[in-house]
Order: sequence, then structure tokens, then C-alpha cells
Amino acid sequence: MRLKSDAMQWGSLAKAFHWTIVLLLLAQGTLGLVMVELPKRPGVIPYFTFHKSLGLTILLLALLRLGWRLFDRRPEEPASMPRGQVLAARIGHALLYGLLFAVPLSGWLFDSATALRPLYWWGLVQMPSLTGGAEPGLKEIAKEAHEWLFWALVLVAAGHAAAALVHHFFNRDDVLRRMLPGRRDSIARTP
Ligand code: HEM
Ligand code: HEM
Repeated sequence: MRLKSDAMQWGSLAKAFHWTIVLLLLAQGTLGLVMVELPKRPGVIPYFTFHKSLGLTILLLALLRLGWRLFDRRPEEPASMPRGQVLAARIGHALLYGLLFAVPLSGWLFDSATALRPLYWWGLVQMPSLTGGAEPGLKEIAKEAHEWLFWALVLVAAGHAAAALVHHFFNRDDVLRRMLPGRRDSIARTP
């Protein structure tokens, strides 16, 4: 198992970060959308608490992933890829990284500005308040931002996933295959 990425494919750590974060985001987004529809009773608090801890976990994974990415390299784009497409992919990836931070941070900001209860990560680590107390004005802005940034992430991720499928089924290159789990020695240098 190769931990680091090389010119031809992603290393196992980059793949693990990518797919773990995708799965957690799917669960987290679904939970977020469902929990806000539940009747406001004390019984719903555990869903919110779970959502906050999972969201902070995604934030931590995004940090670790970016840290590793600064140390790791990325594989080369297929030589046949037009420059415009390479640039679009780079911008898309940068946006995805930005949203991976912005979505949980806006949730955390909303939680801090609401200041209902202390924020714990999985009941273990008390997280600092980002506002130092209740901020009613900021609370509304952060709540809207959390929702809109989430939909922005859904949109950019959908475009990104569609691009990966176009690479695979239309361009027939290795861009998707080299991000899939498992070792693929058979990958030939893409045209
Ligand atoms: C990547 C991580 C996260 C994702 C994908 C996510 C997603 C969502 C979604 C889709 C909603 C429903 C929005 C709506 O329709 O109104 C929501 C609500 C919420 N999220 Fe997150 N969230 C994340 C992280 C966090 C974090 C880290 C916190 C707090 C520490 C948090 C706190 C909340 C709260 C309190 C609500 C309820 C807002 C309301 O009362 O309307 N979220 N989240
Ligand atoms: C919420 C969902 C997703 C997020 C946040 C996300 C995020 C990212 C990011 C940030 C990168 C750039 C990696 C880097 O340069 O460090 C990347 C690469 C990649 N992603 Fe995703 N991704 C998501 C879903 C998907 C899905 C569903 C697919 C497949 C259908 C996919 C396929 C790929 C591929 C093939 C690459 C490598 C692209 C290349 O070699 O240039 N991703 N992803």
C-alpha cells in the first residue's frame, strides 16, 4: 500500500480522506436536513448534539487532509486535458476545500452565537465559543450562511462528481479509477 501519491495515482491516505469525508458529508447533510424538520421538543436535542460532533469531526478531517495535501503531491492530469479544463478542475477543487471548512465553521459560529449550551466534541472535549457569548444579530446571519454554504457545497460537489463520470465514460481516462479505493498497478499512463 502506497501512502503517498505519485505522478500516476493518488496515494492510499489521500483516497481514504476523500471517500471518508464524502460518506460522512452524505450522512451529515441528510441528518441536518431531517433534524431541522423535527418538532422542537427536548427529545430532538441528541440529534443536534450528534450533528455538531460529526460536523466538528468533518472539520478536523478536512484540516488533516489539507495538511497532508500540502506535504503530498497530486497526480498529473491526462496530457490530453485542455488547459481550460485543468483550470476549471483546479478552481473546483479549491472551492470544495474552501466549502469543507466554511460549512462546519458557519455551523460552529451559529452554535456560538446562539449560546444555548456549551459545545462538546463527542461529550469529551469542550470547544471554545467563536463569539464569546450570545450574538442575536450574528446568529441569524450564521444560520443563513450555514444553510446556503451547504447548498453551494452540494452544487459544486455534484458538478465535480459529474466531471469525474465524464472522464471515466466519455474521455475514458484514469482520472476516476486512480481515485477509487484499492491498489491499481495496472494503471497505464493516461494519453
Ligand atoms: C460539514 C459539516 C456540516 C454539514 C454538511 C452540515 C449541514 C447542515 C444542514 C444541511 C443543516 C440544515 C439546514 C436547514 O435546512 O436549515 C444544518 C443545520 C444545523 N447545523 Fe450543520 N452541518 C455541518 C456542521 C455543523 C457544525 C460543526 C455545527 C455546530 C457545531 C452545526 C450546527 C448546526 C445547527 C445548530 C443546525 C440547525 C440550524 C437551525 O436550527 O435551523 N453544523 N447543518
Ligand atoms: C461531497 C463530495 C465530494 C467532495 C467534497 C470532494 C472533494 C474533492 C477534492 C477537494 C478533490 C481534490 C483533491 C486534491 O487535489 O487534493 C477531489 C478529487 C477527486 N474527486 Fe472528489 N469530492 C467529492 C465527491 C466525489 C465523487 C462522488 C466522486 C466520483 C464520482 C469524486 C471523484 C473525485 C476524483 C476522481 C478526484 C481526483 C481528480 C483528479 O485526479 O484531478 N469526488 N475531490
